[in-house]
Amino acid sequence: MYATQATGPGGHVRKITVPELRARKGSTPIAMVTAYDYTMARLVDEAGVDMVLVGDSLGMVVQGLQNTIPVTLDEIAYHGRAVARGLARAHVVGDMPFMSYQVSAQQAVESAGKLMKDGAFESVKLEGGTEVAEAAFRIVRAGIPVVGHVGLTPQSVHALGGFKVQGRGGDAAEKLLSDARALEQAGAFAIVLEAIPPDLAARVTDELTIPTIGIGAGNACDGQVLVCTDLLGMMRGHSPKFAKRYAQLGDAVVGAVREYVSEVQSREFPTQAHAYKPNAQPASHEKRTSETWKLDEPLPLDHWH
Ligand code: KIV
Repeated sequence: MYATQATGPGGHVRKITVPELRARKGSTPIAMVTAYDYTMARLVDEAGVDMVLVGDSLGMVVQGLQNTIPVTLDEIAYHGRAVARGLARAHVVGDMPFMSYQVSAQQAVESAGKLMKDGAFESVKLEGGTEVAEAAFRIVRAGIPVVGHVGLTPQSVHALGGFKVQGRGGDAAEKLLSDARALEQAGAFAIVLEAIPPDLAARVTDELTIPTIGIGAGNACDGQVLVCTDLLGMMRGHSPKFAKRYAQLGDAVVGAVREYVSEVQSREFPTQAHAYKPNAQPASHEKRTSETWKLDEPLPLDHWH
């Protein structure tokens, strides 16, 4: 079913495992990004990320929605299959969408199982603390590795009153800490800390024995995660304070496509270099075969490297 799994630039590359990621606690920080398709997955894998999240952020990034609430299990599974084919080394995590695990522990196990079977994931992530600890425990007991997610949990955007910093003040900080502990006790192998003060993230990181992966949570965490389109500067509107842009691909895309439009209109494109030989000058047998490729085969690796 997952026939065209990437093998990496130099031939065979070994997948990073859950025990290896767990053992990164307190050592080299874990680099995680989101991806939603095969092309991006290949690129971020080649760049050396450790974990790739098919986040329900796809609702906003891919589907143009206001929030992540409408995203479905089938949509996460669909994008998961595409991403998994592009990863030679990085571990792939599937986000459990809103209302796929909150109803009961049984529903949570069934949804996580569907993501593993239909989505080609190697672990699942769910949002929430003590209230989802039972669900997390049952999923782990079914043999499915779990990543927790506390702090700003976007599926609760309406209950939280918007996308804003969490864990401010003593009570909120204590609650967040006990939520993180509950997930650790449930068997989560890592936990995402989103949009919380850096000193609180440092305290949670210190108290837990599993890696913390921060997003807007300072640099004391055991790893970091960013949404790929934020990292690459592809979003045109507002992006959160913590989303450092490492490139300006949005500007690059608009510039390149503007040039293309202009060249199409002026007939500068295509030149002879981008056209086949005219019938008037018959091609040799060798040339004809070089004009042929098999549509049912993946592109050769040297197309990429
Ligand atoms: O859906 C997502 O992309 C996420 C990350 C922001 C952690 O949950």
